[in-house]
Formats: sequence, C-alpha cells, structure tokens
Amino acid sequence: MKLSARHENLLKHTYVDFYQTSEFLEHPLILDKADGLYYWDIEGKRYFDAIGGVFVASLGHRHPRLLDAVRRQIERITLAPPLHGIADVTLDFVEKIGTVTPGNLKYVKAFSGGSEAVEASFKFVRQYFKQTGHPGKYKIISRYFGYHGGTFGGMSASGTGPRKTKFEPQMPGFLKVFPPTFYRDRFPSWDEANRFAAESVEDTIVAEDPETVAAVIVEPVGNTGGIITPTPEYFRIIREACDRHNVVLIFDEVITGFAKTGSMFAAQTFGVTPDIICTGKGISNGVIPLGAMIAREDMAEAFFGPPDAGLQFAHGHTFAGNPLACAVGIAVMDEMVERQLAEKAVRLGNYLTSRLECLKKFGVVREVRGKGVLRGVELVKDTRTMQPFPELGKALKRTALQNGIILRSDPTWFAVCPPLIAEESDLDEMCDLVEKSLADALALVKR
Ligand SMILES: Cc1ncc(COP(=O)(O)O)c(C=O)c1O
Repeated sequence: MKLSARHENLLKHTYVDFYQTSEFLEHPLILDKADGLYYWDIEGKRYFDAIGGVFVASLGHRHPRLLDAVRRQIERITLAPPLHGIADVTLDFVEKIGTVTPGNLKYVKAFSGGSEAVEASFKFVRQYFKQTGHPGKYKIISRYFGYHGGTFGGMSASGTGPRKTKFEPQMPGFLKVFPPTFYRDRFPSWDEANRFAAESVEDTIVAEDPETVAAVIVEPVGNTGGIITPTPEYFRIIREACDRHNVVLIFDEVITGFAKTGSMFAAQTFGVTPDIICTGKGISNGVIPLGAMIAREDMAEAFFGPPDAGLQFAHGHTFAGNPLACAVGIAVMDEMVERQLAEKAVRLGNYLTSRLECLKKFGVVREVRGKGVLRGVELVKDTRTMQPFPELGKALKRTALQNGIILRSDPTWFAVCPPLIAEESDLDEMCDLVEKSLADALALVKR
C-alpha cells in the first residue's frame, strides 16, 4: 500500500496497538470497509479476516441483525443516567446472558470491554471477601504468558514480560504461576505436565497463606502464550483447590467467550464452572464496545443490605451497561443460539484442524492446538530439535498481509479464529492463503 503524505503525517499523530510506528509506516494497513468475512483497504485490496478483527467478529462484519438492533435502539434510548437508573434493554441483556452461562452465573454487569470486565472482577472479589468475614484475602494469582488487559489491574495479572515491564512496578498483591506449556518438555506426557502445573496453583495458595488469597484468574485457552490449551483435568484440579481454600476462580473468557470453542463459554467446553466469567470482544461482534463481568448470583448477596449499609459494589463507569451496546449483545446471543453456532464451531474446528495439520509438510510446525474455531499453530526451526524460529513468525506477518489475509501472528506461533458464518469452502480459501503465506515466509528466512 502506498501512503499519501497526509496519511503518513496522521500516522505520526497516533499509533497502532503494540506496533513501532516506523515499522507500520513500512507496511501500513489503512482500512476502508468490511463486510462478512472480508476487509478492504483504501486502495480496494481485499483481505480475508481469519481472526474476526482480533477474536471479535464471530458473526462477520456488518451483520444485518446487529445493524438492525442498533438502528432500533438508537430510536429509543442511547444513555441512561448512570447514577439514577438503568435502561430496560440493559436488564434484558442481564437476563439474556443468564440464559447462556454455566451454573448460577447470573449476576451481570456490562462494561465497555474486556479490561473493564477484568478490572471490575478484581475489585468485586476483594470487596466480596471484606464483606464475608475474610478481609485479609486480596491476592490474585494468574499465569505467566497470560494477558488480561491494558489497565493496571489487568496488566498486573498479565504475564506478558515486555508488554508490562515498561510500566512496573505492577500493583501489589499479584502473583504468577506457570501454564502447563512451560513444563511440557520436563514430563513424559502432556497430561502429567498439566497435572503438575495445576497442582502448583494449590501449592502457591498454601505457601502464600490461603487467608490472603482472593482469586485465581486464567484464560481457558491462553492466547498470548500461543493458544495454550490445557486438559480438562487441569481445570478440575484448579477448581477443587479453589474450593478447598475459599478462593474465587475467574475465567477470563474475553477471547474464548461466545461460541468459538464449541460452547457458549469455554467453561462449558472444559466442563468446569468458575465463580466469575469476564467477557468482551465477541459479545458485541465489534459493533459497539461491550464487555461484562458475570458472577455467581449468591456472591452478589454480599453486596445487598439495608439502604444505608454501604455494602453496594463501589464501582462504576459512565458507559457501563450502555443501551446501544446491550441491544447488540442481545442480538449476538440470539443469533448464536438460534443458528446453533457453538455446535457449528465444533464442525468447522474439526475441518480447520485437518487443513492446518497439512502444514506439517513444511517441517516447521510443532503442534496445531486449540478448541473449536480458535486454533493456533506453533512454529519451530526443526521438528526434531523443536528449536524456536522467531524469524519465521515475523516474516509470516508480512507475507500474510501481502497475500490478503489477516491472522494473529507472533514470532513463534500464529492463530486463526474464522467467523462462524464461514463454511468449509471459505475455510479452504482461508487455509490456501495461510499455506501460501507460510511458504512465502519460509522463502524469506534462513533455516
Ligand atoms: C484474554 C483477554 N483478556 C482481556 C483483554 C482486554 O480486553 P480489551 O482489549 O477489550 O480491554 C484481552 C484483549 O485482548 C484479552 O485477550
């Protein structure tokens, strides 16, 4: 893409997330429109959106039902007075989420994105323990290589090295354990690595003194670590440890939420019910910013009391529960349930995996992993030594764009998460582009 002087100048007056501006200026991408499975840049070049923006647009871009929901809501109310009331559509949204969550996770607060949902969950948990006789419980345990948001709490729980060291010290009270991938080469099997990693969560709770530990937060499928996909037993062990020590289990389902993994939430896919789910991204399909914290309804009782008790959750945002966003969220859930898109994610995911497995012929793929349509491919220099190949991942980012496909690429892995409106023939088109891009990337780098 050729940049005009005006665009080049304007790009120096803003930034693209986690991008060095000079690098972006060399390989710019300025988008003009999106529809269904595709983006178009301002020169008219088309890109297959293999990642739904970034794990967001599961119903594809400009979905008519969602646009219609916005149009109808805009005619009624777009903002309720946050300190005085709540829009009826926001209550409808609360009710609707309660119909798709596992267990009794029905206490819902809508926010404007994933970070806000995560941040609220940490504050909710700390206040919850202060009001249920355990005021010393405040520590949050999370995992290295995880990502929970750009705000200070979310960042402190994140284990993404360089993304957060620039802002340290992190908030006090945040501790980390390693995910199972960290141990996989030290154990004879993946199951055993998972068992050890899960047991280390309880070891940490005990070593810290359980009366100081408030919550464990995990992404059921960890994106920034490279689509880390633990065993169901891993979550069962953590669930039991949390129960034994009165520790709240938070699933950060900002990426895994809303049908991608084969169930509405990955909690259902793995058969484990957390105490809180944080969501964002796919809940709005990217139409209007939206996220939500969803807690066990009995936890909410800790915040009820007589009018002057001062027990209410001491937390709010001007745009929390925004009516337009909630109208879209309801339409997203209706569409997913009516069209059985979680079930479709399993079918598409199986086909996608079989296509991605074919990439092993290049000799640089260690593993294809994930659940449903959320799939990651780990890249190595050599499948005998399993040495990492960071140059390849970096080259792939460029060749993919050249070939007209948008995927999530990292130095040592890449991920795809095609929208659930895709059919097998669309996945063929997408996987052909992935394969060509990987071949082109390999031609650019030395093995
Ligand atoms: C797992 C996870 N949690 C939280 C967040 C933060 O969400 P947002 O960017 O909407 O604030 C992200 C964003 O990528 C995420 O992937």
